[in-house]
Amino acid sequence: MRRAIYPGSFDPVTNGHLDIIQRGCKLFDEIIVAVLVNPEKIAFFSIEERCDILSEVLKTIDRGDCHVIVESFEGLMVHYAAERAANAIVRGIRAISDYEYELQMALMNRRLRPSLETVFMMPAEEYSYVSSRLVKEVFQLGAGIDGLVPPLVEQRMREKIK
Ligand code: PNS
Repeated sequence: MRRAIYPGSFDPVTNGHLDIIQRGCKLFDEIIVAVLVNPEKIAFFSIEERCDILSEVLKTIDRGDCHVIVESFEGLMVHYAAERAANAIVRGIRAISDYEYELQMALMNRRLRPSLETVFMMPAEEYSYVSSRLVKEVFQLGAGIDGLVPPLVEQRMREKIK
């Protein structure tokens, strides 16, 4: 049983995240999409809202035979991965600019838990510039975000700012 953790803030989930999950489904039997509880970060959506949105949009994508679940976690990711008996961490890398930070995290996580491998995956080129931060920024300044996030995310974002 190959189980991976796909950790992140997912505030909100983008089409780039979903692309990575679908690619991960080809490699793993189970993927736990793990939403970080970070009380220090001011978020657009609450943890509950992010988990709820993720669960809904995951139903709409092709997951093959992979079992994909959504959970939230606090504290060190390697502790959470150990609790869940995960073999790997999945992270998406869009560009070289992501690589430095991701490499640091991967090496720190390896030091903390050598048996846990980090697997970097590249999203489709069309999502190579898409980030949750930019999606929120352009949305809050009045731009459409169709094609960058699932329709449900845009709908929930509209409801949120009403
Ligand atoms: O989507 P993000 O915000 O880039 O995800 C970052 C995340 C959640 C992967 C990272 O901040 C994390 O793993 N946080 C948990 C605390 C932890 O383990 N920190 C040490 C990382 S080496």
